Amino acid sequence: MKTTHLLQTIIFFFYLPSLISSQTCKNTCGTIPIKYPFGTGTGCGDPHFQPYVYCENGQLNFKTHTGCYQVSSIDYNKNVMYISDTSMSTCACWQPSKGFSLDWNAPFSFQDDTIFALLDCSVDSSPIYKSSGGENNSSFPMCDNQGAEICSLLYSCQAVSRIDLPVSTCCVYAPVDLGPSFDMDLQKLKCTSYSSIHGFNGQFPNPQGWNYGISLKYKFNFNNDYPIVCDNCEKSHGVCGYNGPYNAFSCNCPTGVNTTTDCYLGPVWNNSIQIISGKIRPFFIFFMAWLFIVALM
Ligand SMILES: *[C@@H]1O[C@H](CO)[C@@H](O)[C@H](O)[C@H]1NC(C)=O
Ligand SMILES: *[C@@H]1O[C@H](CO)[C@@H](O)[C@H](O)[C@H]1NC(C)=O
Ligand SMILES: *[C@@H]1O[C@H](CO)[C@@H](O)[C@H](O)[C@H]1NC(C)=O
Ligand SMILES: *[C@@H]1O[C@H](CO)[C@@H](O)[C@H](O)[C@H]1NC(C)=O
Repeated sequence: MKTTHLLQTIIFFFYLPSLISSQTCKNTCGTIPIKYPFGTGTGCGDPHFQPYVYCENGQLNFKTHTGCYQVSSIDYNKNVMYISDTSMSTCACWQPSKGFSLDWNAPFSFQDDTIFALLDCSVDSSPIYKSSGGENNSSFPMCDNQGAEICSLLYSCQAVSRIDLPVSTCCVYAPVDLGPSFDMDLQKLKCTSYSSIHGFNGQFPNPQGWNYGISLKYKFNFNNDYPIVCDNCEKSHGVCGYNGPYNAFSCNCPTGVNTTTDCYLGPVWNNSIQIISGKIRPFFIFFMAWLFIVALM
């Protein structure tokens, strides 16, 4: 009898480190809450998003072939991620930029309400001014005519008005015109800079108050249904992740263990080896604790 107690106490202590060890996948990155499909590192979130969005030194970053950008916030209800490009111009700061592009295979697309304004474009040689009409046709099919007001407001900003550019060098470019590769190569377009506005913040005629930045829609599966198994995992304070050669779903629990369901019930996995079957685990832990107390008495 004593030996059994001793053995069970040893088993309990064997599990103790896993109960106090910390979670590999975090549910925040700096101040940004992290939920599916995003993750803070390899094995966390959805494997399709992991190469593009990652957490480093408490900052969430978004990577494309044009650079790394800081994620400013994520709207999980609308499935929209807001990013800021430090190279783009705003009302407060005029600066040259190379542009912005999305990777064609990344699960992101431009949000319809994002307005891109190409700035300081060459009226003579930029392809955006290519006229499809006659010689004297001054309509530029790639620029949005309704964007003229946005252009003149942007050019009224002190940072831009100081360099005295004609408003005709500004072109509001609808994302729909960016082409299937979502490429905005300013060198090719013969423009010096760009500005991206994802909302007027209720202050339309005042460009100082606008929300500058890029908003991107994301889609995690065909129907964009939140996976139930992941929802259950998050409700039990776990973080959704993936594991193994087939990127199988894995719930990373606050105790550090991974389960195939949630952090209440579910088989415990350790590097693909099932240690305890899910149904008995809570009873097992309770039983062990009870035996431990009995053994002490
Ligand atoms: C998982 O297995 C590794 C060795 O493969 C071991 O070092 C670690 O303590 C185990 N973790 C748990 C929670 O059992
Ligand atoms: C749990 O999953 C995470 C992410 O896949 C992994 O980094 C970690 O090593 C796993 N922990 C265990 C104990 O298997
Ligand atoms: C200029 O080109 C646009 C677009 O092709 C066309 O709709 C418009 O009628 C043309 N205007 C003139 C004055 O030719
Ligand atoms: C183009 O149209 C403007 C008026 O819109 C006119 O003054 C100008 O002479 C025209 N130029 C040519 C080359 O036809």
